[in-house]
Amino acid sequence: MSLLAVEALSKSFGGVNAVQDLSFEIEQGKIHSIIGPNGAGKTTVFNLLTGLYKPSTGRVTFDGDEVTGREPHDLARRGMSRTFQNLQICFNMSAIENVMVGAHLRLDQRLLCCLLRLPAVRRSDAACRDEAAELMRFVGVGKYVGSDAGGMPYGALKRLEIARALAARPRLLLLDEPAAGLNPTETHEIDELIQKVAASGTTVVLVEHDMKLVMGISDHILVLDYGKKLAEGSAQEVRSNPEVIAAYLGAVSEPRGERQEA
Ligand SMILES: Nc1ncnc2c1ncn2[C@@H]1O[C@H](COP(=O)(O)OP(=O)(O)O)[C@@H](O)[C@H]1O
Ligand SMILES: [Mg+2]
Repeated sequence: MSLLAVEALSKSFGGVNAVQDLSFEIEQGKIHSIIGPNGAGKTTVFNLLTGLYKPSTGRVTFDGDEVTGREPHDLARRGMSRTFQNLQICFNMSAIENVMVGAHLRLDQRLLCCLLRLPAVRRSDAACRDEAAELMRFVGVGKYVGSDAGGMPYGALKRLEIARALAARPRLLLLDEPAAGLNPTETHEIDELIQKVAASGTTVVLVEHDMKLVMGISDHILVLDYGKKLAEGSAQEVRSNPEVIAAYLGAVSEPRGERQEA
């Protein structure tokens, strides 16, 4: 049985059909990617899966339960966690506190106490902090354990977001453009990190424009165009699909696969 099944999912905003009649499955333990030109509907799919948007039509099943239209905290508690295309870091908090926030949904209200440092929860605060520090080391930003988020470089903040998403101990991790704005060395490190996350048993869904990264690590790729499924399959199948080449891959030499708007 697949971990996540999406059936005939659609979302429109006024006259814009951002996602149209989309069906796909996510297999447990695999690295899946969703690719397509800007505006294809990739982030909208993430927003629908994680409960930020309610679908116009369709059905989402996670781990055997129908979860269509559930609230983000419910889906997070069930094991869905994500990062955002644009950094969502609290710059008035320390780096480690940003990661501790990710445990919030797993620990329910205890994290609030943990952040308020109520004496009764000192012990869980310490455990929470230790786990956050361990996650920071896991994603490769261990040297910032004692730092303010505001003092960290952009590449490290992208990885801090992954640590925060992992703090919820997800079964399914959705990464929205984790390599955007990174240099080739940093992108290679993200590549290794995603593989490490997958090897630790977390199923990954990746939205990313860096085709070298996507083609290298994906077990399965879904290609979107104008909110619809254009193709899906292995990297080899997708790469050799003439429709995909025409709509997207043919343009990857242009900056970030952007398409001219008519
Ligand atoms: N909250 C929203 N309100 C109105 N239109 C939206 C909203 N979110 C996305 N869209 C539109 O939906 C389409 C798909 O956007 P998006 O999912 O962000 O694409 P991608 O992530 O593939 O670049 C675009 O036309 C975008 O303008
Ligand atoms: Mg997007």
